[in-house]
Amino acid sequence: MPIIAPSLLAANFLHLQAESQMLNQSVADWFHLDVMDGQFVPNISFGLPVIQQLRSTTQKVFDVHLMIEEPEKYTEAFQKAGADILTVHVEACRHLHRNLQHIKQCNMKAGVALNPHTPIDSIKDVLHEIDVVCLMSVNPGFGGQSFIPYTLQKIRELRKWIDALNLPTLIEIDGGVTLNNAAAIVEAGAHVLVAGNTVFASQNPIYTIAQLKQIQ
Ligand code: DX5
Ligand code: ZN
Repeated sequence: MPIIAPSLLAANFLHLQAESQMLNQSVADWFHLDVMDGQFVPNISFGLPVIQQLRSTTQKVFDVHLMIEEPEKYTEAFQKAGADILTVHVEACRHLHRNLQHIKQCNMKAGVALNPHTPIDSIKDVLHEIDVVCLMSVNPGFGGQSFIPYTLQKIRELRKWIDALNLPTLIEIDGGVTLNNAAAIVEAGAHVLVAGNTVFASQNPIYTIAQLKQIQ
């Protein structure tokens, strides 16, 4: 069963408490929280105060995806705001190994996200330091885009490396995940499915989350 991480980027921001309650009633495992700075990606979403206020509405894991430049400047701040997993982009980190150590010293799980064009080789030498590899299956910045099929090959290859080294590292897929492609993504070796529009634009989000969770 995959870990299901609904992305609140697609939630109704006027009713975040109700959206959080809905997720609490569902079998969703993580809250996926997309932070954008208008520099690393061509969009601005939400940041620390929103995450901090959401923290009081749920016990579920906060999976914070930083689409920002110089993410190392904000490690402590996101820990204080309530992040459990802090994911930085490999393309935004000149000193990735140091950043990962810092995130773990701050008692969070360390995640690394890769844009669609970034080869998985870029993290091979630090794979044992990474708790979650987030493979972007769209170009980051916006919800509601289409899944890039080549991602399936990246998942298969990365899963081979993880299994060969017997690592606990999780593979998370972010962008364009639907009820139609989720089975192929899990079959390729993904552990975590992020879903924004598939969940929040659904007639019955709780049922949609349950359907994603049942995928083998
Ligand atoms: C994209 C974000 C995603 C996004 C996914 O930049 O990182 O988490 O919310 O949205 P969907 O599932 O609608 O593609
Ligand atoms: Zn994301």
